[in-house]
Amino acid sequence: MEVSVLIPAAGRGERLGLGPKAFLKVGGKTLLEWALGAFAQAAEVLVALPPGVEAPKGLRATFLPGGETRQASVARLLEAANLPLVLVHDVARPFVSQDLLERVLKATQATGAAVPVLPVPDTLVRPEGEGYGEVVSREALRLVQTPQGFFTALLREAHAYARKRGLLATDDAQLVRALGYPVALVPGERTAFKVTYPEDLALAEALARVWNG
Ligand code: C5P
Repeated sequence: MEVSVLIPAAGRGERLGLGPKAFLKVGGKTLLEWALGAFAQAAEVLVALPPGVEAPKGLRATFLPGGETRQASVARLLEAANLPLVLVHDVARPFVSQDLLERVLKATQATGAAVPVLPVPDTLVRPEGEGYGEVVSREALRLVQTPQGFFTALLREAHAYARKRGLLATDDAQLVRALGYPVALVPGERTAFKVTYPEDLALAEALARVWNG
């Protein structure tokens, strides 16, 4: 796969409180090893780790110090990318199937920017103080996952634009859209969930036992 995979893994894992998520073990492997396994066919893999954290030995990836925010970490990885296509993937999502990867890649090659999304199963509400407020139509909304694919030059331009404007985003597609460029949606996968809360670990452990990507 002629693509640079960028893995921002420089978060300190504060919500989970178990240290950097990259080194959290699920099914006997770290989340970083899971992510690297999913992208084993990629020509280049770049990983951002928290500054001062030593890079693990024996893994097929180039390690760089991350930044203060996810966006800053991705920007650093982007500078080092050598191929015309990038896939940006959060280390906190260990289960990326090859089907999902190919869907994103294909749409990226065709359009320049593509992200996986899922429908929202729950009712969504904007609270009014402590109370139930306006319901937001779940049909109108999607949950956004990674990996997200981009033409490298486009994502670089989007990050430069965001820096200039002081925009801070939680994913890369937002920045590309802020630049005025459309981002294609492809079907995501529920198994590509983000390990965020303690109970997610139990789910990840269970999935690790049966996962074959
Ligand atoms: O905090 P959140 O779950 O949104 O983080 C998403 C991804 O961004 C994680 O993989 C995390 O390691 C990464 N991150 C980073 N640099 C930061 C903060 C988060 O690479 N400063």
